[in-house]
Amino acid sequence: MKAYILNEPGDTTQLQIKEIAIPEIAGDEVLIRVKAISINPVDSKTRQGKGIYGRLKEESPLILGWDVAGIVEKAGAEVKDFKEGDEVFGMVNFPGHGKAYAEYVVAPASHLALKPQNISFEEAAAATLALLTAYQVLKKAKVQSSQKVLVHAAAGGVGHFAVQLAKHWGTYVIGTGSEKNHDFIVGLGVDEFIDYHGDQLDTIVGHVDFAFDTIGAENIIRSLPLVKRGGTLISIPTGLNDEQKQKATELGVDAYFYLVESSGEDMKEIAELLSQGIVKAHVSKVLPFEQMAEAHQAIDSGRTVGKIIVSL
Ligand SMILES: NC(=O)c1ccc[n+]([C@@H]2O[C@H](COP(=O)([O-])OP(=O)(O)OC[C@H]3O[C@@H](n4cnc5c(N)ncnc54)[C@H](OP(=O)(O)O)[C@@H]3O)[C@@H](O)[C@H]2O)c1
Repeated sequence: MKAYILNEPGDTTQLQIKEIAIPEIAGDEVLIRVKAISINPVDSKTRQGKGIYGRLKEESPLILGWDVAGIVEKAGAEVKDFKEGDEVFGMVNFPGHGKAYAEYVVAPASHLALKPQNISFEEAAAATLALLTAYQVLKKAKVQSSQKVLVHAAAGGVGHFAVQLAKHWGTYVIGTGSEKNHDFIVGLGVDEFIDYHGDQLDTIVGHVDFAFDTIGAENIIRSLPLVKRGGTLISIPTGLNDEQKQKATELGVDAYFYLVESSGEDMKEIAELLSQGIVKAHVSKVLPFEQMAEAHQAIDSGRTVGKIIVSL
């Protein structure tokens, strides 16, 4: 089968297509014939030797990617939920070695759900790491109806899902973005749109119960005062440094980092939300497998809307 091997950390030329053997499955795993792969900032960071490269650097060959949708080719003897021919999707082995940039991927059955019939493989692949992150973070923060929620980068992969989930769970949602993405973000259902380039954010000091930081660094310092005393800020790009932790303590905000993890149980909940049309993946670009480098370059720009997908 064809797979992208990460030769060594660096630019997109380090992603090299190679012919390798189709992997074997264990009893609790399935072999998926991949139809679509979603590309995330963590793919690009790991390619550059950041992200979760430290956890994977001893792996050989190192194959990036975690988000797949495809068709079950083979199911292990202990697998009850899936059989050959089923259409499935999921985030495979995160934060471990997902090996999703390949024609065939081995996944623990416990990381997958059946793909809803009403969505394409591209939309299903899009609704994995980014949607799982939004889902797990909002659950972790225990957001509940009538609360106010601030979602940063509401046009991004995680953000556009977080807005839809937070609205579905009955909260008042403020979404940040650039003016060029105003209509897209408003279309997701936000109650208020704030262009993060100006000083409009600072008018909501002390207003929100929960701030979802998808930007990191200065954005954490800028967002902490916007949260009510007793409220929560969860940041996903990196951990909080001492200055950020101290500021959170002074302001009485529970602020911490969260890392998404593979979960078939959560994927099943997500499949239900997708099948009911409550949450929709916005796929802004689909590229062929041979153009993985272009997909990474788009993610590297930091300016993409919704999700970038590679299809096979
Ligand atoms: N810890 C975890 O488990 C976890 C999980 C998923 C993602 N992440 C991390 O979370 C971050 C976001 O991921 P993602 O997939 O949502 O990224 P993404 O899809 O690449 O986000 C792109 C969007 O961010 C917007 N943006 C950039 N700077 C902004 C700012 N200062 N304020 C508001 N919007 C801004 C851009 O809009 P403009 O063009 O308008 O700037 C663009 O639409 C990444 O660092 C990723 O690695 C962590």
